[in-house]
Amino acid sequence: MSGLEAPTIALVGAGAMGGALVRGWLQAVRKGGGLTLTVVEPNFDPELERELEAAGAVLNPVARGAVDVLVLAVKPQTFPSVIEAARALVGEQTLVMSVMAGVTLDKLCREFNAQRVVRCVPNTPARIGRGITAYVMTQACTPEDRELTEQLLEPLGSVEPIAAERLMDVVTAVSGSGPAYVFLLAEVLAAAAEQEGLDREAAIRLANRTVAGAGALMLETGDSASTLRKQVTSPGGTTEAALDVLGAGNGLGPLLRRAVAAAAQRSRDLGKA
Ligand SMILES: NC(=O)c1ccc[n+]([C@@H]2O[C@H](COP(=O)([O-])OP(=O)(O)OC[C@H]3O[C@@H](n4cnc5c(N)ncnc54)[C@H](OP(=O)(O)O)[C@@H]3O)[C@@H](O)[C@H]2O)c1
Repeated sequence: MSGLEAPTIALVGAGAMGGALVRGWLQAVRKGGGLTLTVVEPNFDPELERELEAAGAVLNPVARGAVDVLVLAVKPQTFPSVIEAARALVGEQTLVMSVMAGVTLDKLCREFNAQRVVRCVPNTPARIGRGITAYVMTQACTPEDRELTEQLLEPLGSVEPIAAERLMDVVTAVSGSGPAYVFLLAEVLAAAAEQEGLDREAAIRLANRTVAGAGALMLETGDSASTLRKQVTSPGGTTEAALDVLGAGNGLGPLLRRAVAAAAQRSRDLGKA
């Protein structure tokens, strides 16, 4: 791991997101990087613990003090109960990173009396390293902080810097909640297939593979969604008949526009609460 050659990191919460981060950092250690990691988590995976130690990472050093990076990956509702313990890990040089939904930069700065703070919004495909994590940093963060942040987030998939924190509500509505929209698409496609006469199991297999395969094709070719859509839409063909329905004035576009607006508004409201 470069940026910092052998960073000392404290991770608070090693569930789906925190665990995916640690598994990625483990790969970096196996490639020769250094890592001193303190994990604050009631049920840290013992297998992962063994693998980290076997790879040469220093795990849970006896002398605990301020670390280079504090990563907060507990549920937002758990956050208040970990603040005090986490404060003991923060010093003047500590970069504070959070993947907690809805916890603002301002709150993190106040709670940890810190200036260099990063707020991240990952999404659920991060569990298999295929997510996208958007992040926003306070102005006090340095170019080195940015480099290190991107390296530390890499195990979750792609990384997307966002210029202003107010846009994190939109990010939450698009990539944060977005996987659920795609899962719903697979569900309703399967239900439509069943209504047209396919048996339920075949309908689910066809719908799921179609959604997954279309996503994989887009990623692997690097072609835009619009290019790929046009490639499979022959004039007067079956796809065009369906797209005429989906593209109508009350079709998918306005529906998703309303859905994203509702999610972004909920994110703003939860932020205020
Ligand atoms: N998963 C997603 O797709 C996603 C997307 C965007 C943002 N996020 C954000 O990422 C954060 C983590 O989500 P997640 O899905 O990784 O949740 P998770 O799997 O529930 O992980 C949270 C971990 O924190 C542990 N924990 C509970 N109390 C703790 C304490 N007092 N001290 C230290 N650790 C404690 C939990 O242990 P136990 O299970 O034993 O309680 C669990 O392993 C959340 O804030 C969420 O908003 C997640």
